[in-house]
Order: sequence, then structure tokens, then C-alpha cells
Amino acid sequence: MGGKNHNTETRAILEEDASYFLRQSVSSPCLSVVHKAEGAYIEDTNGRRYLDFHGNNVHHIGYGHPKLKKAIAEQMDALPFAPRRFASESALALAKKLVEIAPGDLSKVLFTTGGSDAIEVALKIARAATGRHKTISFWDAFHGAGFGAASVGGEQLFRSHVIGPLLSGTEHVAPFPVTVAPMVTPTLMEKPNLKSVRRPVPVSCDYVLEKEGDVAAVIAEPARAVPYIPPPGYWQMVRQACNDHGALLIFDEIPTGLGKTGKMFACEHDDVVPDILVLGKALGGGILPIAAVLAKSELDVAGEFAFGHYTHEKNPVTAKAALTTIEIIEQEGLVENAAELGKYMLEQLNLLKAKHSTIGDVRGRGLLVGVELVLNQEEKTPANDLAEDVLYRCLSKGLSFKLTMGNVMTLTPPLIIKKAQIDLSLEIIDQCLSEAEQAL
Ligand SMILES: Cc1ncc(COP(=O)(O)O)c(C=O)c1O
Repeated sequence: MGGKNHNTETRAILEEDASYFLRQSVSSPCLSVVHKAEGAYIEDTNGRRYLDFHGNNVHHIGYGHPKLKKAIAEQMDALPFAPRRFASESALALAKKLVEIAPGDLSKVLFTTGGSDAIEVALKIARAATGRHKTISFWDAFHGAGFGAASVGGEQLFRSHVIGPLLSGTEHVAPFPVTVAPMVTPTLMEKPNLKSVRRPVPVSCDYVLEKEGDVAAVIAEPARAVPYIPPPGYWQMVRQACNDHGALLIFDEIPTGLGKTGKMFACEHDDVVPDILVLGKALGGGILPIAAVLAKSELDVAGEFAFGHYTHEKNPVTAKAALTTIEIIEQEGLVENAAELGKYMLEQLNLLKAKHSTIGDVRGRGLLVGVELVLNQEEKTPANDLAEDVLYRCLSKGLSFKLTMGNVMTLTPPLIIKKAQIDLSLEIIDQCLSEAEQAL
């Protein structure tokens, strides 16, 4: 991968791909050509097989689950499409299932084809229900590439000036504290250029909501996909502040929903029910695109307006795929597997932390795990070059994952992962870290 040692066939496809597709950051040109995706593995046209600990978080049930493929094929035979204004039984069955598994009173549903669209539906619901338009969201968050989603997102890459003004009233605050130590000491304060120092950010949601005065909604990922895990009590505090100031709470569970964090929804770890919950990615079982918005029944207040009038809003095939995916997650105990193996993975990574001085932090929930690589334990200086070196070394040994923020190895195995595969990945990481440290 990464333009290294490709065979002739792969190089030819990559060149042609680059000549047809619009170039865009972190997307095109591509790293390699995927040829096969099965279970926890992808294989490229060079014949290299990778344990996929990235999978865009769509592969909870593994790639190409036989039950899912069968259900999709049967649904295509039975009813391939439902034009607008016609109900479809599988879309209804999915709506019922989502309401059944969702926390609290999230009992009204809309489907879209992608997460970004679903986020924008959620924003429209919040505007209609509150009569306000402002939102509070986090810098560094990603909520999708559409204009509305990019406006509440906090990644510069998607908010570039080249696309012009974004939505007004989309206010941003610093994300929740990333680590609690080191505290900002007078000595550290004297080094203003010490970018890597992580300070507890005393964001008072109450303060921001009060000052803004007329905020429709706070929108956030309950556990940031980097990952960063919220400190205890954080979401309860935000929930209370939203209640006090008449703002809604929207949780984007597009990557974290359906068991990734070891509970069906990440917000269940914090015992907080949002007013609107957004799902996507793994909902289509890693085969079909479908996303969902779940809202409290009292937010069903704008029936005269078309919130999410999408062509595929009741597509029986994508709905059947989502329903079957949830059934597979339940029947195969995948949420429990994520909780158990995620805990094991964290324990083992913490042992590696004791061995490698370049591991600055290990954190995660379920199978959403991050290993932060640093040059210096005390000041936590990000080790971006080292992280890139480790990434390519791991790829060459058959482990694929994503680097986030330059130095966080983001490990998000599918929920079907086995302990032996986790052990193998830990061995590869250990070896590659040692090699990369020696090459420093
Ligand atoms: C937290 C979060 N929200 C929204 C999205 C957007 O989803 P989609 O790519 O389906 O539009 C993503 C995709 O990566 C995401 O990670």
C-alpha cells in the first residue's frame, strides 16, 4: 500500500483511477486497489492480505456476511424498490427494530442514504422544533461532507475557504478534555509554544449556551472516533445545560453506534439519552449505504415540511440489509464480544505502553481503541513521523489501521474479531514499534 512495491496491474489501475476521479484530500489518489473483502480481511491486487482494523467503521459484522448477502438477494427478488409515498414492509420493520433498541423515547425515524444527509435532517428537525437556528459543536469533529454537516464539523479539511461561506450560527467550542494530565503548571505555562501539552479544557456548556442565548442544538459524537473518551459526568452536565437553556442534544453515533464501544450505543456508557440520535456506516452491514435519524416523538412537529425527502428513504433492500445487520449483531453476541475483546486489547496495549516509551497514551471503549505515539512522555510531543513509519511497517506485516491527528493509531477492528486475531495484531504492533524506534 501507499505507493510502495505495487505490481504492474495495481499500478495501471491506480493510474487510471487517478485520471478519472476528481482529486480530493485523503481520498484520491488511492493507496492501493482492493480486490477482496471478506470477514475481518481485505486483500489488494498485489495479493497482500490485511487484517482490517479500519474498515471505515462499516464492517461490524465483517465483510460479506453470508446471512446478509442471502437476505439482500431475497429482498431484491421479493421487492427491489419502493417509490415515494408507498410504505414498504422492510422499511417499517427496520423502523420498529431501531425504536425497540434505541435508548429512551426515540420513537420517530427517517432514513437517508448517507450519514452526512442524516446529520442535516437532524439539524433541520432541531431548527423546526425549537424555532432557533444556532448550533454548538466541537472543533476537530467530523459530521460529514455536506454543507450543513461540514458547517457543524470542526475539521479544517472540510471547512476550507475554497467552498465559500458555511452555514451561519454554527458555533464551535473546544472538544471535551482529551487527557487530564499533565495539568497546566506554571512551568508549562512559561512555554507557550508547547503545543502538545494537553490541558483540561474547562468548557462550561452552560456558560456557552447562556451567552449564545438561542441555541437550537448541541451536536457531538458521544465518544470521539479519534478516539477520545469523555470524562465521567461530562455528558450529564451537557444534557442538563441543554435542558436548562431549551437546546436539543443531538448525538452523532454514525461510527460508534450498533455495538462498537461495547454497548449498543456509545451514549449508554454515560447514561444520557439525546433528543436525536444519528446512525449510519455499519447499519448497512458493510454492503449497502443507509443511515437513520431517530428523534423523540415530541419533535415530530413539522409534517407540512419535507425534511428528508430522499429517493431511497424507504428502499426495501437497504432497509432489509440494516434489519438483518442488527439481527446478526444480536444473534452473534457482537456487542458483548466488542466489550470483552476491547477490554482485553486495552489491557494488552497498556502492557506494551510499559515497554515502549513512545506510547504516550492508550485509550478506548470496546473496539474503538487509540494508541497515541509521542517523542517525549512528559510533554507528549506528537511523534508523527514515527507513527507513519509504524503504519507502513504494520501494513507490510498484514495489519491495516488509520492514523488520526497524525500520531494516534486508531484501531477499530470489526465486532466479529477473534482473540487470536487481536493477539496477532498486538504482536505486529509490538514488533513494528520496536523496529521504528530503532530507526529513529
Ligand atoms: C462521526 C461521523 N459523522 C458523520 C459521518 C459522515 O457519514 P457519511 O460518510 O456516510 O456521510 C462520518 C463518516 O466518517 C463520521 O465518522
